[in-house]
Amino acid sequence: MLNNFLKKNFSIKKNEIDLLKFLRANTNIDSGGNKLYDGLGTHSLQNPEELVWAIKKIQEIIKNKKFKNKNFLEFGYAHGFTNTILNKCFNFDKIVSVDIISTAGQSRDSFFANLRFKNIILLCGDSRSKFIEKQISLNGKYDLVFIDGGHDYDVVKNDFEIAKKNISKNAIIIFHDIDASSCDGPRKLWKSILKKKNKGMKTYQYVCKNYKIKYGLGIIVFS
Ligand SMILES: C[S@@+](CC[C@H](N)C(=O)[O-])C[C@H]1O[C@@H](n2cnc3c(N)ncnc32)[C@H](O)[C@@H]1O
Repeated sequence: MLNNFLKKNFSIKKNEIDLLKFLRANTNIDSGGNKLYDGLGTHSLQNPEELVWAIKKIQEIIKNKKFKNKNFLEFGYAHGFTNTILNKCFNFDKIVSVDIISTAGQSRDSFFANLRFKNIILLCGDSRSKFIEKQISLNGKYDLVFIDGGHDYDVVKNDFEIAKKNISKNAIIIFHDIDASSCDGPRKLWKSILKKKNKGMKTYQYVCKNYKIKYGLGIIVFS
């Protein structure tokens, strides 16, 4: 049982196997879970192994106390699954999440349910709009950013540029879909980030290739 999941200091070290089981139970079989696609849009949109890897990496990084990991910015709320899982692990002081609010493919009940029991500001609109950019900035700075909104190159690049302007001195940015089966924007951006990497940046990546649907997570640590 994930008996530590709701406590303040969730430790992935002690709970890794249980967390993986929990994520698999909420994920479709094509993406590495145990669930058959049922058309209800209530499945997690992450690969369970990749998400566990990222949570583990974040916990490792924030052992260094200069990483506060208190304010979280997310591009792409969808139905809020990843938002809730990360919040359960890290208990954020503030979450700002941006989504254009599409009704396609995700459960409306999950959308509402995952807005509860957390300190969240949901910014509804296109992340390329001046209004959204301004609101993100007014609510910053952010210690952790998860980029999984629009997947066209111009959108994901724009989200990255906004993220960079609004992170705290010691911060983590995570990209989803750096090697996705279904889109090319995040892969192209991730490759260009690796080429231009500078001194203050460390990068990590993990792509689980065991299942029909492939995503991939990339992490940049700024310090
Ligand atoms: C793959 S889903 C996000 C999944 C979510 N991160 C999770 O793991 O549960 C991508 C989301 O980005 C949103 N989106 C797409 N283009 C966007 C844009 N230009 N601005 C803001 N949100 C956008 C979509 O509405 C969709 O909900």
